[in-house]
Amino acid sequence: MNILVTGGAGYIGSHTCVALLEAGHSVIVADNLSNSKIETIHRIKEISNKDVLFYQIDVTDEQAVEAIFAKHALDGVIHFAGFKAVGESVERPLHYYYNNLVSTMVLAKVCQHYGVHRFVFSSSATVYGENEVPFKESMELLPTTNPYGETKAMSERILMDIAHANPKFSVALLRYFNPVGAHESGFIGEAPNGIPNNLMPFVTKVAKGELDKLRIFGDDYNTVDGTGVRDYIHVMDLAEGHVAALDHLDEGAHIYNLGTGEGTSVLQIVKTFEEANGIEIPYEIVDRRPGDIAYCYADASKAQKALGWTAKRDLKAMCTDAWRFEKQYQALVDMK
Ligand code: WQD
Repeated sequence: MNILVTGGAGYIGSHTCVALLEAGHSVIVADNLSNSKIETIHRIKEISNKDVLFYQIDVTDEQAVEAIFAKHALDGVIHFAGFKAVGESVERPLHYYYNNLVSTMVLAKVCQHYGVHRFVFSSSATVYGENEVPFKESMELLPTTNPYGETKAMSERILMDIAHANPKFSVALLRYFNPVGAHESGFIGEAPNGIPNNLMPFVTKVAKGELDKLRIFGDDYNTVDGTGVRDYIHVMDLAEGHVAALDHLDEGAHIYNLGTGEGTSVLQIVKTFEEANGIEIPYEIVDRRPGDIAYCYADASKAQKALGWTAKRDLKAMCTDAWRFEKQYQALVDMK
């Protein structure tokens, strides 16, 4: 199939492009490069030895999106493009609501206009709020702690209502848990512009000596060792989950957790990283981060049953692959 991947120069988008190409699909990327680099597009081509068309556009720009649909016969869309920093969303709610919601609505509108009926949406486990773990797709969503999470819950609602009104429009809403790691080549990985938000990029920057220690946000949660527990999933498993969801799209809207079903604490991640890579990660316990919850992990059974997909790569692979990319990353930046 010919697939438009918005945000395809980003972390999860680029890995999904590789998985799509490896599965025999063709890929067109639309990305405004606000949190990614054009070099990543070149790396996707290098890894897959396939061509990738790239348009540097803002997906909230309906005319620019329309031009792509007019030029290319598309079979489906995977929509990653969006702002995703939880803390920033609290400081800049309108920036987040406008960008994340308008981009989703523009894409859905143009899809309808051009008769493109397959829509895969990048959602997040954040939408569960402080539900009881393990999170199940059938759960009632609770308010999230931040505008970013609300934009994901609202986008899901918008897409579900469109699918309900237009049965031919089939939507997969994929709720990610904690994506980490990198493609085994080390050519692409989690390379946010500026200061990272997530745990693993901080760990690899400590490993590289760019940071002197990891700050662990609280060790007084009611968990195995007091630190936060999350469901870490290898980004290539997550990418392959998108291909499975695309291949299984039928009528209506379907929600899937993309996680491993296993919870791992921050200290367990640090220990796994140290053992996997033979590098010590100094850390300091500091105050809790506002908005953090103690537990977040998936009931991953629905995707397994409906999509025949499960995460295959273990924590060790997540840590070794993340480190391999970080070591090679400077070369990527220098090549920009
Ligand atoms: C993981 C654990 C922190 C950094 C976020 C978004 C979620 C999704 C994934 C987009 C927590 C601890 C972290 C650090 C730390 N993103 N930590 N020191 O918050 O679970 O989820 O990213 O969809 O929507 O909310 O991920 O990697 O920030 O934190 O101790 O320097 O690591 O407290 O327990 P999180 P994270």
